[in-house]
Amino acid sequence: MAGHLAGRNIAVTGGGNGIGRATALLCAAEGANVVVADYGVTLDGRDPSSDVADGVVAEIRAAGGTAIAVAGDVGDMVVGQRIIDTAVENWGSIDGVVCVAGIVRERMLFNMGEDEFDDVVRVHLRGHFSLYRAASAVMRKQETGGSLVGFTSGAFVASTAQANYSAAKGGVVSLTRSAAFALRRYGINANCIAPVAMTRMADNVPFEMEAGGPEAIAPLAVYLLSDAARHITAQIYTCTGRRISVWNQPVEIRDMVAADGVSFTVDEIVRDLPDTIGHEEMPMFADLERRMKEMEERKASDAAAEPADGAGSQA
Ligand SMILES: NC(=O)c1ccc[n+]([C@@H]2O[C@H](COP(=O)([O-])OP(=O)(O)OC[C@H]3O[C@@H](n4cnc5c(N)ncnc54)[C@H](O)[C@@H]3O)[C@@H](O)[C@H]2O)c1
Repeated sequence: MAGHLAGRNIAVTGGGNGIGRATALLCAAEGANVVVADYGVTLDGRDPSSDVADGVVAEIRAAGGTAIAVAGDVGDMVVGQRIIDTAVENWGSIDGVVCVAGIVRERMLFNMGEDEFDDVVRVHLRGHFSLYRAASAVMRKQETGGSLVGFTSGAFVASTAQANYSAAKGGVVSLTRSAAFALRRYGINANCIAPVAMTRMADNVPFEMEAGGPEAIAPLAVYLLSDAARHITAQIYTCTGRRISVWNQPVEIRDMVAADGVSFTVDEIVRDLPDTIGHEEMPMFADLERRMKEMEERKASDAAAEPADGAGSQA
């Protein structure tokens, strides 16, 4: 089969729904053999089922492609290994991994339970580690190397009611950057996509999003897996479908040096820091204020549009 991924062997976690499903379908349409890995859980990670992974495999096969389902929890190292082994044992190599699987458990930080934190970090962060680890052990011995594609979120910068998710997604960024940094010499590239797409995960977002369908994210994932992007590594790309943007690389931007060349006293920091290096405003504070204002205005206009008690019966 011709295409950008002709003859490649790719594993897609979370491949049963949303962005993962769209990515698995496009990888297959672009000529890849695909391991569709999905635990078939609810948005918050309950009620596992093998149906969704099997369903996507059936769709790929019906379209003439090649795919195998693995239904398991990507937060489990054994499952990560099994996903990679499935590709290697059936098709001889693993050329790309796309880690899309994820769950959410929304709660303000001061109310968040230990399980709500651990489960979200486990599925997202360990769910990347388990795949990256198993895949890179094979890829480093392959002449053609391979590609790792992680899924982070714009929320990695901060989130009001999902500190667990934000921390996990920040971890995914650092893990992926570390993979890129350590594995370039083996011909392995590693990048992250921060998607915005209308899926069940986006249903509860309380503000308007610039977003298309999940299939609008898949072309960027395929690009990052393809030969055309072999030189691209350690990048974060936001993709809303109609718009793709690249994030900057975090670097120190100003410094100050102790007079004695060794260390500062507290007094020296109090005196010098504000006017020398200062601090950097968090742009998200302004966004948050704008969104809160919009929500309040919407609430006020909804309340004004609603008929007062008894008013409806006058007509
Ligand atoms: N939709 C968005 O706007 C958006 C925004 C930012 C980030 N993301 C990220 O993109 C990815 C895909 O999101 P989506 O909107 O397609 O979500 P989705 O809920 O539609 O799909 C997630 C899939 O992951 C699977 N999954 C969950 N836990 C798993 C586990 N432990 N093991 C294996 N599979 C598991 C689910 O069964 C489901 O099929 C997620 O990592 C999400 O955090 C999405």
